[in-house]
Amino acid sequence: MSNTEFDLVIIGSGPAGYVGAIRASQLGLKTAIVEKEKTLGGTCLNVGCIPSKAMLESSEHFLQANHSLSEHGVDLSGVKLNLKNLLARKDKIVGELTGGVDYLMKKNNVEKFSGWGQLVSANEVKVSGGDKETVLKAKNIMLATGSAPNTLPGLEYNGTTIISSTEALSLEKVPKKMLVIGAGAIGLEMGSVWMRLGSEVTVIEYADKICGPMDKGISKRLMQILKKQGMNFITGAKVTQADAKKSSVELTYEVMKTGETEKIKGDICLVAAGRVPYSDKLGLDELGIEKDKRGFVQVNEHFQTKFSNVYAVGDLIPGPMLAHKAEEEAVAVAEIVAGQSGHVNYFTVPSVIYTDPEVASVGYTEEELKAQNIPYKSGTFPFSANGRAKALGQTDGQVKILAHKETDQILGGHIIGPRASELLSEIIVCMEFGGSAEDLARSFHSHPTLSEVVREAALNVDKLARQM
Ligand code: NAI
Repeated sequence: MSNTEFDLVIIGSGPAGYVGAIRASQLGLKTAIVEKEKTLGGTCLNVGCIPSKAMLESSEHFLQANHSLSEHGVDLSGVKLNLKNLLARKDKIVGELTGGVDYLMKKNNVEKFSGWGQLVSANEVKVSGGDKETVLKAKNIMLATGSAPNTLPGLEYNGTTIISSTEALSLEKVPKKMLVIGAGAIGLEMGSVWMRLGSEVTVIEYADKICGPMDKGISKRLMQILKKQGMNFITGAKVTQADAKKSSVELTYEVMKTGETEKIKGDICLVAAGRVPYSDKLGLDELGIEKDKRGFVQVNEHFQTKFSNVYAVGDLIPGPMLAHKAEEEAVAVAEIVAGQSGHVNYFTVPSVIYTDPEVASVGYTEEELKAQNIPYKSGTFPFSANGRAKALGQTDGQVKILAHKETDQILGGHIIGPRASELLSEIIVCMEFGGSAEDLARSFHSHPTLSEVVREAALNVDKLARQM
């Protein structure tokens, strides 16, 4: 047993854990962080958001060098893929960032413990399997253990022909035919990477649209664009089984409309069918901390479990499994522990899929506004009419802004287009301040920039767009 009593012990060092630890330390709390993996940063930094973005960027360069640079007057010949270098670059970025988190922990006087963290009581965390076994005394505990890829029955991972997103980040060669189960963020992003590098990719999706709950029009447009890029889609199809051989795999799927069964073969199958919370073996059952059927820890509006000093955040609790949502929840908990009124505004949690073009969304969709009988007006504007988009050669897509019909308050923003992820931020900030479409439309936007498309869409809420 360590003699030190910590104000806050955090289990898990992903975006929730390490950001929460820094905030806690800033607030004067004596803080410890426990991590089972060798490096800090969790799924996001090690095997998620960051490595996938590195590969998306590299694969996009490869595609452009092969196909679109000649349009810019740059003629290249003999373009070859060096997959080893591509993966090494990705690993270097991951190494720099995880090392950066380590530095931040030291800089903020957060004590790091390596090993498996487990609750012994509401005031004790056992750390085992690492450098040395110890029990940490804690006034407060934050569970931030994240999530793991979902396993579908009949489709168990074997690491070679049936893989999760983790293995999809380090394939040693480009598969000829890749099957992807699930048209959410992971399926579309990793499917895009390997398609750009030369794989024939088929995405099989249970729902009749891609991109989960995102705006219907935008998902439809993205599917058209991805099809044009060469991605195949089978929607309304539930994969029920995989027959895996040494270097191939055959999937069986049910066509939802007819109930008929079909088969499809590939070299490799990426299962991207959601993630499940990492809530096992944390000592929760022993202490009677409630989980739902899927393993999500049950918390109140202050992120407290049945013990008021034991909190849970991020992928471990219900809600979108997104790094930025987890971060904000962890910051809120650190502030609550420090006696402040930590709070998360779920209305403005953005959602992004980093395909080409990117799609990014915040607030209500039109479908949700209609279902809730909220009167709204909508303004859209295409990138094809924007000078900067033309110069970039990226004119596919549009911005849509939804505002309350009477008050003009912005209720949602939905973008498909170049750098949609970055462009969404001004809509989010405007929403955070309760801003109106007119507020956004009357704000300066540098010319020429892609952000002018956001402004024109805001103007168009009242049909006042002027660029063309
Ligand atoms: P997801 O839940 O977003 O999508 C999974 C898809 O698989 C769903 O559309 C579902 O209908 C489909 N599916 C499930 N079982 C199926 C079956 N048997 N046959 C056919 N289709 C089936 O999950 P995903 O893409 O795996 O991502 C996991 C989590 O990580 C999500 O919460 C996601 O938002 C997050 N994430 C976010 C990223 C980002 O912000 N860009 C990037 C990667 C992940």
